[in-house]
Amino acid sequence: MNNTRSLKRNLGIGLTLGVSILWLLSAIASGLVVQKEMKEAFDKALKRSTQHILPLITADIQKRALGVNNSHIPILQNNDKYLRYRVLDRHGHILLRSKDADPQLFNRSPLLGFSDTATHRVYTTTALNHRVFIEVAESLAYRDEDLKEAIVALLFPLLILAPISFLGILLIIRLSLRKVTDFQHAIEKRGAGDLSPVGTYRLPAEFSPIAIAVNRLLERLRRTLDAERSFTANSAHELRTPLATALAKVQRVKAVIDDVQLKQQISDVEASLHSLSKQSEKLLELAKAEGGGALSEQPHDLIPILAMIAGDFSRQTPDRLHLILPNRAVSSHLDPDAFAILVRNLIENALKHGQADQPIEVSLSHDGTLRVVNDGHLVPPQDMARLRNRFVRSNTTAAGSGLGLAIVDAIATGAGISLHLRSPATGRKRGFEAELNVKPSTNSMT
Ligand SMILES: Nc1ncnc2c1ncn2[C@@H]1O[C@H](COP(=O)(O)OP(=O)(O)OP(=O)(O)O)[C@@H](O)[C@H]1O
Ligand SMILES: [Mg+2]
Repeated sequence: MNNTRSLKRNLGIGLTLGVSILWLLSAIASGLVVQKEMKEAFDKALKRSTQHILPLITADIQKRALGVNNSHIPILQNNDKYLRYRVLDRHGHILLRSKDADPQLFNRSPLLGFSDTATHRVYTTTALNHRVFIEVAESLAYRDEDLKEAIVALLFPLLILAPISFLGILLIIRLSLRKVTDFQHAIEKRGAGDLSPVGTYRLPAEFSPIAIAVNRLLERLRRTLDAERSFTANSAHELRTPLATALAKVQRVKAVIDDVQLKQQISDVEASLHSLSKQSEKLLELAKAEGGGALSEQPHDLIPILAMIAGDFSRQTPDRLHLILPNRAVSSHLDPDAFAILVRNLIENALKHGQADQPIEVSLSHDGTLRVVNDGHLVPPQDMARLRNRFVRSNTTAAGSGLGLAIVDAIATGAGISLHLRSPATGRKRGFEAELNVKPSTNSMT
């Protein structure tokens, strides 16, 4: 499970959520304020309407008191469909009412000032020395409708602005972290062969200390590796000449000596010098392989190189090597020298450690898969896991120092190629198989 969290993702989600919640809270707060203010404004308007109609109604009542005594309750035409009103005397008898002024709209008995019934907001006042009560009712539904319109008008700009602000946040995060992403890619691209400092140009201040620490670490690593490689290369190189001279001298002495016993002892010394010389050769190859340069700028066809190396081995051990080549060129960015060292080590291993009387199959397919397969005893799984380490050998009677597979692995790693070692070989019950694809992926080329 991947436990690492993307800073970009966390900032994006965190800021977007935070801003959304703030937008929502501010919208709710504004809604509540608008609701309160509108209620006050409606109440004021209701009171004003009451005060406007009050003189008209009192005049009408006074006129009726002087005139003919109407036995029925007069109904006034009212064009305002939201306002209903009625006039009561102090005993609660209706003196006057507007059209549709149902008794359910009002309180049972008049309550001075503002009051609410189930469907209406009622304002009640008195006139003519508290002899009459005037109640004006306004529909709550009408008020709600207006409130809803006001809230929609308030939220509408937010609905447009919120997505724009989210996009803005994402864009700013992306732009701010662009240099960090570049830095991350630059570190990812660094392999064993590239330990040059990583560019820190225009990196955010918070990341600069990390970049400086990474570059310091790379510098220390480079110096340590350089020292190790140059020590290996120098020692191998320094050993080569004296070893060759000693070998030549021993061979000369052996040629002039007749004593059989002494000749045998000199042959042993010669064999030891041979093995030392081979070992110094391998150390030099390992130093080169670990020093990088496994890739070349130009692609090369690897078939002629493989054919030449296989031909060399076939001359030494006729009829053991079965070479299978494609009929099309296999062009690869793998360095030709590095490829030659790699193939030599794999074929040498197959000849040395494989079943002596059994053939060895060396095949290269047109897609670049190189396979070297030999017969022989199984290599135990616990040894298989460690074979590519330096100086590690499994149970073998052949001479060697355990450097061949370390060299092959260093070249493969330097070229970004996966080396697969198997025992038993694919489709067999025994034997050993080394497989790799000689076409490095485009990523390792960068
Ligand atoms: N083709 C093979 N078949 C069987 N065993 C192998 C094969 N190749 C490698 N091995 C095992 O892996 C060990 C490590 O191989 P490696 O090439 O690193 O060293 P080496 O061949 O023993 O010595 P050197 O290559 O330095 O001469 C060998 O000692 C052998 O036990
Ligand atoms: Mg070997």
